[in-house]
Amino acid sequence: MQPNAAIALMRRALSIVESQTPEMADAHMQVPLDYYGNPELAAKEKELFETSPLALVAASEITNPHDYLVRNAVGRSVLITRDEDGVAHAFLNYCRHRGAEPAQGCGNARRFSCPYHAWTYDSKGRLVGMPLRERYKGLDLSQLGLVELPSQERHGFIWVVLRPGHPIDVAAHLGELDAEIGSLGCDRMTYYPSLAEAPLSTNWKSVAEGLLEGLHLPHVHPDTFGLNPQASHVDLAFYDRFGPHIRWGMGLFGKDDVGRLRATPETEWKPMENIGCIWLISPGLLLSHELYGIIYADLTPGKALHESFLRYGWLSPVTEAPEGMPSPEHMAARAARGVSQDAPVWEGCGRGLARGAHGYALIGRNEKGVQLFHEQLSERIGYTGLRYC
Ligand code: FES
Ligand SMILES: [Fe+2]
Repeated sequence: MQPNAAIALMRRALSIVESQTPEMADAHMQVPLDYYGNPELAAKEKELFETSPLALVAASEITNPHDYLVRNAVGRSVLITRDEDGVAHAFLNYCRHRGAEPAQGCGNARRFSCPYHAWTYDSKGRLVGMPLRERYKGLDLSQLGLVELPSQERHGFIWVVLRPGHPIDVAAHLGELDAEIGSLGCDRMTYYPSLAEAPLSTNWKSVAEGLLEGLHLPHVHPDTFGLNPQASHVDLAFYDRFGPHIRWGMGLFGKDDVGRLRATPETEWKPMENIGCIWLISPGLLLSHELYGIIYADLTPGKALHESFLRYGWLSPVTEAPEGMPSPEHMAARAARGVSQDAPVWEGCGRGLARGAHGYALIGRNEKGVQLFHEQLSERIGYTGLRYC
């Protein structure tokens, strides 16, 4: 983050903690339940997921030439490889013979042999062999490689657009946040998995809501995350919207620290030690400061309206934790525990949103991050049903 921007956030965090009042939206928001359960809206959201760059893996998950990983993304099997020149690729993991999936899991392999009839592909997706080759005379193997998806490695992630031939420009997608996301240093961090890809029985927007507020922390995660004992209100946060992306955050200090910090010249402030930020990068990427590393989570819709998938991990700049801090493995396990605590309430929301007769979900003025999320998404999918009260 640019020093000036960090100082400005620090000023906002100080006034929030001092006044014990979060930055509030202008009004409470009513979100009609059909917003979560309308197939036409879901089709538009799917379009958004299929045409936006998705950070499907951390670059550190496939570090070496011929490392690979198969991911499920918005109903597709995607093979992500690093070729012998170190260049990352993404392919639809469907054999050009009759569609079986040539690669499984993750590892290091120069060749992917389809389990059905052993057509074989290399890490550039080229079809390099098939049994009984002479029976297939006249076929041009160079035209029968795996279908490559547009991809780009940037800021420590491999971003993929799920639609072949679609343009990809991650810097343009991140827009104003491009430099800020770059400054997190995820390209120098190592990925520690928490959850491979957990299916959740609720609409993806309902999960996104839970990623954009801290109100539930003392109720759902009372002993999991280190809550600031001096922060008597868990909604003491600031919020910004950058096109379709949301950033929210909070001061990591209490009311008792305000005087000392105000007495310190701004040039001596250490904003990165005193504020924590969370980014929801459209459509479903979550990045968040957490102690000395970064939470990296990826949310996607499932096939059914009230189904979604969440992949969750932790990025660490070090293999040994700083003194007095939990290890990276512990941080990843803690994140997994957090999601396992969220999952039952999220799924309860899913049932309530699908079957409730209460007309609308209510997003309070103090849940400004959730409001910004619904506003940006509504603009993008042409939904006009949000109301304010
Ligand atoms: S389906 Fe892959 S080799 Fe036949
Ligand atoms: Fe949570």
